[in-house]
Amino acid sequence: MKEIYLAGGCFWGVQHYLDLIGGITETETGYANGSVDNPSYLQVYTDTTGFAETVHVVFDDTIISLENLLELYFLCIDPLSVNKQGNDTGTRYRTGIYYTSEEDAKTIMMVMRHKAEELGAKPAVEVSQLKNFYKATEYHQKYLEKIPGGYCHIGLNTFKLASESQKSIKYMNARKLIKAILDGDLIAGLANTSAILHEQLDFFWVGFYLVRKLGGETSPGRELSLGPFQGPAACTRIRYGKGVCGTAWSHGETIIVDDVEKFPGHIACSSLSRSEIVVPIMAASEISPADTQNIVGVLDVDSLVVSGFDYVDQFWLEKLAHTLSNDLIWHE
Ligand code: SME
Repeated sequence: MKEIYLAGGCFWGVQHYLDLIGGITETETGYANGSVDNPSYLQVYTDTTGFAETVHVVFDDTIISLENLLELYFLCIDPLSVNKQGNDTGTRYRTGIYYTSEEDAKTIMMVMRHKAEELGAKPAVEVSQLKNFYKATEYHQKYLEKIPGGYCHIGLNTFKLASESQKSIKYMNARKLIKAILDGDLIAGLANTSAILHEQLDFFWVGFYLVRKLGGETSPGRELSLGPFQGPAACTRIRYGKGVCGTAWSHGETIIVDDVEKFPGHIACSSLSRSEIVVPIMAASEISPADTQNIVGVLDVDSLVVSGFDYVDQFWLEKLAHTLSNDLIWHE
């Protein structure tokens, strides 16, 4: 077993989030790295003791690595916010990672470097050795289990990323591999992305449809044309607004279809496909997601089972679409 101390704002929500992650065996809420002995909640609340509301985490690193655990932790905080998470303000609500082994410090610094690259700024997360930790009273332990619907600064969807931690970890690791091999070359990048997703997430069909001009007209005089993919042979062209892919394109948003037979106009490339998710990819320079003129293609995934995709898939595939948009050179 290994341990780490994580501060992420109000410890009620952070403990609940961490308790949902597979491989975490024990958590307790408390106060870390302050200047008085045995502080009470009220003393810490004065914001003069230097303590951060913190969760002590014990985990089995044969099930979850420290690196993956920290990556999941980053999803439940606003890493750029200083002394403020949700509506809770004060140094006691700062974010922090406190370690008890020098070996872990190296992993933490590596994750911090990756996050800084991804965010384009240094995270406001304090990293330090654990100096002291005092467990909070029983009232503050597993608070949201005792009071479901009690105060929490973490959004409901975020908890899903933790409760499906194994799937989240597969996506995180696949995304790292993909990011490492992207070199701007569009077709090579999309081909390797399809291969990695197919292999690591075990998708039935995964691939890309690219927006192509139809005789020089503007959209909707464009169509989607089959790009790199993994899985059975697929339809080569899809019109604007047609099928799940053309609908995701025309709506400018991700579509999850739980049962393809119930989606009017679904285009069945393979009769084995039962559910589907389609994520539009925007041109990197564009920021307005509603403007479908900016969509350069879609990422399409099919499953052999009904309801094969949920919010967790949407979250990670949208992140990936964003990466592809930024790291590849998209031509008309
Ligand atoms: N089902 C898609 C067509 C593409 S295949 O799933 C590979 C659609 O309805 O747009």
